[in-house]
Amino acid sequence: MKRLLVLHGPNLNLLGTREPEVYGAVSLPDVDRALREHGRRRGVIIDCRQSNLEGELVTWLQGAEREGYGGVVFNPGAFTHYSIALRDAVAGIRVPVVEVHLSNIHGREEFRRHSVIAAVSRGQISGFGPESYVLGVDALLTLNTSPPARAAASAPRSRRPRKGPRARRK
Ligand code: DQA
Repeated sequence: MKRLLVLHGPNLNLLGTREPEVYGAVSLPDVDRALREHGRRRGVIIDCRQSNLEGELVTWLQGAEREGYGGVVFNPGAFTHYSIALRDAVAGIRVPVVEVHLSNIHGREEFRRHSVIAAVSRGQISGFGPESYVLGVDALLTLNTSPPARAAASAPRSRRPRKGPRARRK
């Protein structure tokens, strides 16, 4: 996994000035710079793109594998909550996608608590500000070394770790 793609959805170009009490004061170019720097330290090239257009995000997701990316860190912005087109794009590609959010969407308005993307992503990271993206990158890098939790849970009984001795009843 030598190259990763970071996709920012609508309104994230306004980071730094947009509702700073929710999304923080760091601008998008600064978030991207920190991510590329983190990538260098981890030995991966990170490319970042932002779009306010649903179709453009679909096209970038579809092209990720062809363009040589091993994974995508994706903040779909408001599309998170209703874009079936983006959901289908994530479900239809082979590269793993980690959904990230700056804010904790589960602690906000009711309409933000549901993500149509989450079920088809490898996982979701939400609520750590710009650090959510960094954690998203690290999550993708972890996929290279550890099997998905799903597979571990369905491993045959013989390969599951033994439980400790039963506690005696008093
Ligand atoms: C967001 C959360 C969304 O609900 C919102 O529409 C955004 C940003 C986040 O990063 O916290 O645009 O995805």
